[in-house]
Amino acid sequence: MRLKGKVAIVTGGGSGIGGAIATRFAKEGASVVIADLDPVRSEKLIAQIKADGGKAAYAKLDAMKYTDAVAMVDTAVKTFGHLDILVNNVGGGKGNGLEELDEATWDWNMNFALKPAFLCSKAAMPKLLERPGAAVVNISSINGLTAIGLEAYAAAKAGLVLFTKNLALKYGPKGVRSNVIAPGTTRTDFWIPAEQKDPDIFNRIGKVYPMGRVARPDDIANAALFLASDEASFVNGVVLPVDGGFTAGTNIFDQAARGGGAADAIWGTDATKQERKK
Ligand SMILES: NC(=O)c1ccc[n+]([C@@H]2O[C@H](COP(=O)([O-])OP(=O)(O)OC[C@H]3O[C@@H](n4cnc5c(N)ncnc54)[C@H](O)[C@@H]3O)[C@@H](O)[C@H]2O)c1
Repeated sequence: MRLKGKVAIVTGGGSGIGGAIATRFAKEGASVVIADLDPVRSEKLIAQIKADGGKAAYAKLDAMKYTDAVAMVDTAVKTFGHLDILVNNVGGGKGNGLEELDEATWDWNMNFALKPAFLCSKAAMPKLLERPGAAVVNISSINGLTAIGLEAYAAAKAGLVLFTKNLALKYGPKGVRSNVIAPGTTRTDFWIPAEQKDPDIFNRIGKVYPMGRVARPDDIANAALFLASDEASFVNGVVLPVDGGFTAGTNIFDQAARGGGAADAIWGTDATKQERKK
């Protein structure tokens, strides 16, 4: 039991990556507050956690509202006595390219992908500071580390990285560690509409990843478990990509040696190379 005796809040914990984190934490002995906009899916997950012998409670949260964040922390403390772990998981993005991005969409991305971590951290920090071994785990994205589109979402998720590093320096000396996970494409409910339109989508996206597949929510939950646990007691201010090696670099030069693929666009095809030699 790697989180025995700890109390954790997982925002957006009702499903997807947050749901997997809440489930994993509960299995490792944490009492978990699932703070989510959707009571129905949250209560379903809570019932499952309890049926498996875990402890969980629900806090109604719109993570874009500070009053909700404060109430969420109150629920954790009133229900389980204290607060040791905050996972800021709520987020998402839309708008590819400046043509699709208008001012309202830009603001929406900032409010949904960046602001919730600020509001919930602000509400939770006083309680976290009371506990030895307390931890914040923020869920960013590979979009926050490297340019792959969704400009406003990327800017928000990159902002989350530096927000977290600042928390690490400010509150680390007082005993609260703060770290970031940057997941690659993860198969959650978020993707259902895209998969319904295009059943082969994960096959194709998977090929972009060096490990040949997209992430499972449990891949992210396992990383969150490590960062939240005392095993990571000297890990503070890091960004852990959980992306099968996507952000490790590029194999474009290797491809160039073998020819074909994207490398052709840079170095030319055999035919154009021959042409150049003439
Ligand atoms: N799924 C991916 O491919 C992927 C990849 C990289 C990063 N991420 C990041 O991981 C996080 C979780 O993504 P996901 O795919 O599991 O999401 P999801 O859409 O599958 O689940 C999100 C959960 O958050 C809840 N929620 C939505 N709005 C909320 C709000 N305002 N307040 C509180 N709860 C709210 C929903 O009810 C749902 O239970 C996000 O921050 C996302 O940006 C996801």
